[in-house]
Amino acid sequence: MTPPLQGREIHLKSRPHGEPTPANFETVTVSVPEPAEGQLLVRNHFMSVDPYMRGRMNDAKSYVPPFKLGEVMDGGSVGQVIRSRSPDFKEGDFVVAGTGGWREYAVAPAKHYQKADPSVGPLSAYLGVLGMPGLTAYVGLLDIGKPKAGETVFVSAAAGAVGSVVGQLARIQGCRVVGSAGSDAKAKYLREELKFDAALNYKTAPIAESLAKACPDGIDVYFDNVGGDHLEAAIGLMKNHGRIVLCGAISQYNATAPTPGPRNLGLAVGRRLTLQGYIVIDHANRQPDFLRDMGRWLREGKVSDVSTVVDSLEKAPGAFIGMLRGDNTGKMLVRLAKDA
Ligand SMILES: NC(=O)c1ccc[n+]([C@@H]2O[C@H](COP(=O)([O-])OP(=O)(O)OC[C@H]3O[C@@H](n4cnc5c(N)ncnc54)[C@H](OP(=O)(O)O)[C@@H]3O)[C@@H](O)[C@H]2O)c1
Repeated sequence: MTPPLQGREIHLKSRPHGEPTPANFETVTVSVPEPAEGQLLVRNHFMSVDPYMRGRMNDAKSYVPPFKLGEVMDGGSVGQVIRSRSPDFKEGDFVVAGTGGWREYAVAPAKHYQKADPSVGPLSAYLGVLGMPGLTAYVGLLDIGKPKAGETVFVSAAAGAVGSVVGQLARIQGCRVVGSAGSDAKAKYLREELKFDAALNYKTAPIAESLAKACPDGIDVYFDNVGGDHLEAAIGLMKNHGRIVLCGAISQYNATAPTPGPRNLGLAVGRRLTLQGYIVIDHANRQPDFLRDMGRWLREGKVSDVSTVVDSLEKAPGAFIGMLRGDNTGKMLVRLAKDA
């Protein structure tokens, strides 16, 4: 008899107060169960660490339930089916799921998985530009921000997974693209590699000052990944009928007390601004259009697949903490299979 398959997974050991630390996580070895009828056994190649997971570490109600103490965390993953008990998948299929991550092997209902076509882009891209962050950028910028050629689009956390795609899509739309990021190297990368018209390091000067210099004629669309001082600075520069896409507020995710709102929100009235929040999971109907368009832009070299990859499962907590601090350029990923 073959011995049961062993795999490692990351459990939530304790809930963080403020910034997470390695002590909040635990690496545990488990026996991987055989898949039941309708389930798949998947060997994960890559897993994703995402900002929304910080909220799930708190014991607080949100649009996704909190992680449970002493249990495996979950999140985006891509991998290969090694046993299928579903007629829709066969062994060897490459698959992506929003819930299979933080573990080397996942056993889960086949309906949680979608096939990933490696001819469209590398498997890892299904967690980035071809995955949830890419769809977030696509829906948020194109459907909510509705940029027109010649308009100025400002995106914060612009060197990250969502922001780097937003900037590239705004450029495809013929917009003037301005981005903010947390280092000179990232700002240079945005200008030189991703062809942003202007990029600024928000850590070397107050964002309101550097943004005013980068946007002398104002902003038509602000794609907000950061909240706080970035949102206030952008509101101050919005043109009449401008659109603010409220995608995230990462500057506040580790806050231990309520954070103040933008002091200049009143400007939204006279300038006829639209501020709209959204959550990507409500826009699954856009997935076919997204994959068609993003696949084409990748092939044509109009969009680059940018990622920072950390190796092996036990490094996942460090990758997550690092992503919240800005260690990543593009999508922060953890490679779980050495041969991936
Ligand atoms: N609405 C939705 O459905 C949805 C879906 C996905 C993501 N999001 C949101 O989109 C945003 C970006 O997510 P992502 O997955 O693409 O992450 P990411 O941008 O790849 O990584 C997070 C980045 O945030 C930046 N950051 C951290 N603290 C900051 C601060 N205090 N001020 C300014 N920047 C800070 C860091 O870059 P720097 O070096 O530049 O500081 C870091 O690299 C997050 O707010 C996330 O919650 C929303």
